[in-house]
Amino acid sequence: MAIDERFIDELNARCDIVDIVSRYVSLKKSGSNYFGLCPFHNEKTASFSVAPDKQIFYCFGCGAGGGPIRFIMNIEGLEFQDAVRYLAKQYNMTVPETNTNPKARHRRERVLAALKDAARFFYTQLHSPAGAQALAYFQRRRLAKRTLNNFGLGFAPDSFHALLDAMTEKGYSKEELEAAGLIVRSEKGTYYDKFRNRVMFPIIDIRGDVIGFGGRVMDDSKPKYLNSPETMVFNKRRNLFAMNIAKKTKSEYFLLAEGYMDVIALHQAGFDCAVASLGTSLTDEQARLLTRYTKTVIVCYDADAAGQAASQRAIDILKKAGLRVRILRIPGAKDPDEFIKEKGAEAFRKLIERSDNDVRYRIEAAREKYDFTEDDQRILFLREAAGIIAALENSVERDVYTASTAKLAGVTQAAFAQEVAQALTRQARQRKRQMHREVRAPAQAAQPRERNIHYDNVKSARAEEGLLALLFSDSSLAEEMRDKIAPEDFSSPVLGKIYGHAIALYDSGRSITVSALEGTLAPEEIELLVSALRTAVSPDQRIRAMEDYIDIIAEQKAARDIPGEAEEDPLLRKAQMQRKTKRYDNGAAG
Ligand code: UTP
Ligand code: MN
Repeated sequence: MAIDERFIDELNARCDIVDIVSRYVSLKKSGSNYFGLCPFHNEKTASFSVAPDKQIFYCFGCGAGGGPIRFIMNIEGLEFQDAVRYLAKQYNMTVPETNTNPKARHRRERVLAALKDAARFFYTQLHSPAGAQALAYFQRRRLAKRTLNNFGLGFAPDSFHALLDAMTEKGYSKEELEAAGLIVRSEKGTYYDKFRNRVMFPIIDIRGDVIGFGGRVMDDSKPKYLNSPETMVFNKRRNLFAMNIAKKTKSEYFLLAEGYMDVIALHQAGFDCAVASLGTSLTDEQARLLTRYTKTVIVCYDADAAGQAASQRAIDILKKAGLRVRILRIPGAKDPDEFIKEKGAEAFRKLIERSDNDVRYRIEAAREKYDFTEDDQRILFLREAAGIIAALENSVERDVYTASTAKLAGVTQAAFAQEVAQALTRQARQRKRQMHREVRAPAQAAQPRERNIHYDNVKSARAEEGLLALLFSDSSLAEEMRDKIAPEDFSSPVLGKIYGHAIALYDSGRSITVSALEGTLAPEEIELLVSALRTAVSPDQRIRAMEDYIDIIAEQKAARDIPGEAEEDPLLRKAQMQRKTKRYDNGAAG
């Protein structure tokens, strides 16, 4: 019987490919990848590589490749399901019953229904005499009635069984309520309400289902917030507070705050793009969820040291997911909620406009480390800043930051520009060395190494591979790709099939990863995919690259449909030439 695919996603998210492979192969880090001797064929030079960012392994020698599950299948000689169980055990996860099982599905529906009814109950309580105190609390925090309703805020009465009684009356069993995380079983075996005398914040997923709650005390007692436990429907790593509302925003960016109250205050002030993580620090899965709705995230965490440390972690995670990141500093207030209360929405909008990108933020952070009254400290700062600036791909951007940083440190622009130029050379040399190491293994052959798969149109197939590489590294492109090109447009049936599956993953709300397809695709198809994913994509050129690939695939398809026409068309050929030069220009300038 099939294992629930969401569980597979979850397992893949927890697995670390480097960790898993390291138990069998001794790996050495080189650049962002790891290399070692391939365990699947005999070799003396290391052509086996592991890419942690894509969570895949690949052997340049024998072509073996895939995600964590595939690795375990190959090395332990297990079938897919057994490999899943094997890994799940190592990560202390319980393989759930299949979701095609009608009993399990029914239980899930009951749990969701219980959570929705509980939210209704809390809401009613807030507006009943028992909730007077809670309503006053929200009013003290300046929440408008409309805001209370938009977020479905409520109140859990000061009782050990108010919810339990109300829900039992509605026909829910204790077992169902416990599975929903609403009641707790005592050591004596009796049940009682988990949330008591707290204002309640329902957590609603993007489908609109209530999946859990956060409950806040109304005074200074501890813990300030109590959150629902992880349940069969509530996964803290994969959801974001207020995402159900924010996903409809017209805003180009999203705001990421730390607290529920910050998010609510932001929405009330007109920023309907604010979300927060659920009582834990930001996860990769949450970052991936964000990529489905936006390209830019503005981090507005609390101003204190803990908040700033948390924002650095969040920035790294967001960038890794391919998002553009800006960082907003909140002057004279501890968090967005307090700032808006004191200075108003317009003042906050100004903060957004002035929010720093990652580069300025990092230069600013470097500056704070050094004492500018000492010359040698200033020199150290300039060297560090030069490294940050040289890493930028865009030369205009480099010029801008060179000028502003020189000014900041009080040196001439020309002098600092020289420092940046040196850093550029240094980094280019490093990159080159790195590149040589990576291609020491034979260059990618035009034809797939799997002999049963043959490319009829190598040019189109290359573009198709490139398109897949883009899609698997940035799922935010999925929507546009799906609208512009269909699996049938692909010249290679296998690549087209993989593309179709990837888009289907996206459409069902799952993330597009190699691992997610391991149950669906045959091993040789996975290997082909993994080898295609080696096509490097610069994050700044993704959209342009996508358009170029789509053009090529469409051209080649036209040539197939009307044989002899497209290839011979001088205008088309000219367009192709221009595109080539254009790409070259971009590369040179970037
Ligand atoms: P904050 O303490 O900053 O909460 O914690 P807040 O939402 O801004 O609340 P106010 O303004 O003080 O009322 C940030 C987030 O950390 C989680 C919650 O998700 C909270 O929103 N948290 C905090 C907990 O899960 N438990 C706690 O005890 C405290
Ligand atoms: Mn706060």
